Amino acid sequence: MNKIGVLTSGGDSPGMNAAVRAVVRCGINDGLEVYGIYRGFEGLMEGEIVKMDRVSVADILQRGGTILKTARSDKFMTEEGQKKAINMLKTFGIEGLVIIGGDGSLRGGAELAKKGVCVIGIPGTIDNDLAYTDCTIGFDTAVNTVLEAITKIRDTSSANERTTIIEVMGRKCGDIALYSGLGGGAEFVLIPEVKAEFTDVCKKVVQGVNRGKQHSIIVKAEGYPMKSEDLVKGISEYTGRETKLVVLSYLQRGGSPTLQDRKIATLCGARATELLKNDSRNKALGVLGSEVVEYDLYEALEQKHSIDLEMYNLVDILSR
Ligand code: F6P
Repeated sequence: MNKIGVLTSGGDSPGMNAAVRAVVRCGINDGLEVYGIYRGFEGLMEGEIVKMDRVSVADILQRGGTILKTARSDKFMTEEGQKKAINMLKTFGIEGLVIIGGDGSLRGGAELAKKGVCVIGIPGTIDNDLAYTDCTIGFDTAVNTVLEAITKIRDTSSANERTTIIEVMGRKCGDIALYSGLGGGAEFVLIPEVKAEFTDVCKKVVQGVNRGKQHSIIVKAEGYPMKSEDLVKGISEYTGRETKLVVLSYLQRGGSPTLQDRKIATLCGARATELLKNDSRNKALGVLGSEVVEYDLYEALEQKHSIDLEMYNLVDILSR
């Protein structure tokens, strides 16, 4: 293999740049020509492809976002779109493709792989919703961002003796809520994977008040099936305590990646080029303990993500 491409797709996550840098520099080190594909699959179909050199990825390791830009593409999900993408790869002579993204992006990669493209997937998403890997690139940074917010919100929440609901991202996955709820000492975490009784949430707030707690923090995943505004209204009516909502939204996607995210991104990027150099194809890279490991791409995507129930129960025990 002589020419490889790299793209970032879906929601950006802190650490994607570190992965791009590693793909480019390790690829060049291995004697490969490396092409950056802009705006994910959208840019691939349109031929937004540029040859990268070592300098093109300078000063990006510490930056959130992605220098390659990103997009969500409905068109790519069609047969016509995928044909266009494959033709573009042929036009540029790109034989191997590194895809950095979440579940949808790696599934897009699997479609290309079925049609003969040599694909390596790197898990880049703040959501941590890919079951085959212990963690995804960007998750650690996002949780730390949420923790910082919780710490600040706790101060003002105490000063005003309020309940605050903090809504976090994660799509259908509750990991951001669960991990930040555990680390931030929340009274309750509301996640899509576990049905919670509304009265239990309220009772927890009241219990806290009765034992002199100044604040109550509830971390709610965006995928939890109740509108945050309804929750605020309901809790405030039930407990008689002022209740506010903070939606952290895109704040969670930005910022300088943590060491963990830089490390796994760099190791995954390096492994991806090594695999392509050795003509290995259709792998999903992931993290197992402190190691980067490779899985069959299709098998990896078949795995179903599950929540850590012990951790969920621990949040409850610790906040009683
Ligand atoms: O997948 C990452 C993510 O930030 C999710 O947590 C969130 O639901 C979604 O992307 C938001 O997507 P968009 O950037 O398209 O609004």
